[in-house]
Amino acid sequence: MNKLFIIANWKMNPSAKKKAEVLFNNIKKKTKSLKNIEVIICPPFIYLEQLVDSTKKINLGAQDCHWENTGAYTGEVSAKMLKGLGCEYVIIGHSERRNYFKETNEMINKKLLGAFKNNLKPILCVGEKQDQEMGDVVKNQLIRALNKVGRTRIKDLIIAYEPVWAIGTGKSCKPNDAMQASLFIKKILTKNYSRRIAENTPILYGGSVKSDNADLYIKQAEMDGVLVGGASLDADQFSKIIKNCSL
Ligand code: PGA
Repeated sequence: MNKLFIIANWKMNPSAKKKAEVLFNNIKKKTKSLKNIEVIICPPFIYLEQLVDSTKKINLGAQDCHWENTGAYTGEVSAKMLKGLGCEYVIIGHSERRNYFKETNEMINKKLLGAFKNNLKPILCVGEKQDQEMGDVVKNQLIRALNKVGRTRIKDLIIAYEPVWAIGTGKSCKPNDAMQASLFIKKILTKNYSRRIAENTPILYGGSVKSDNADLYIKQAEMDGVLVGGASLDADQFSKIIKNCSL
């Protein structure tokens, strides 16, 4: 793959609009336009509109979406609304949503289909918990999430392998284990779609990525980018991650 994706997942941070603007502008200032790197920032819904970047150096993503375009779904935001705001991407199936909000693979599948229908590019998160087998969990999550996702749509999909035990813990996955997971995901995509689709689908790593380990996932594990949580809330750290991955 000749392009890398560096994605910031701000989760439920920062606490005020002004702080979101400052963080975004600091990241933007430190980020050069790099032809082969796409930087995507996923802030809370409420900050999306003010952060649309007219220079296009930084793309925007949401952290979730609802599958219906409109309707009686109190508290929800639809893929259609996000697209209308200028969002290009949406994270779907993050482990915190699966865990705290009881999202099932079936819901995640509907969200993926809803995102595709509205031309939002989904970043599908998969990964096992500490006491689980990577293979069994990831296979099940992938196959069920991709139910009825056709070949023409899948070209816009990004997959993030995020072992749950590595998220927010400081215990990152060994690059070789991340590479094995990535190869495993490619095998499933080859079986269910084609080798070409498997080769062209970006597979990222996420879970305690910092400026001193990000490049290992690119250079050693040969992954197509990283999904960064905690370290993306610090403009210096995040821009160092971008810089180190681009060298
Ligand atoms: P972390 O989060 O980098 O803070 O571990 C990653 C994620 O949740 O996507």
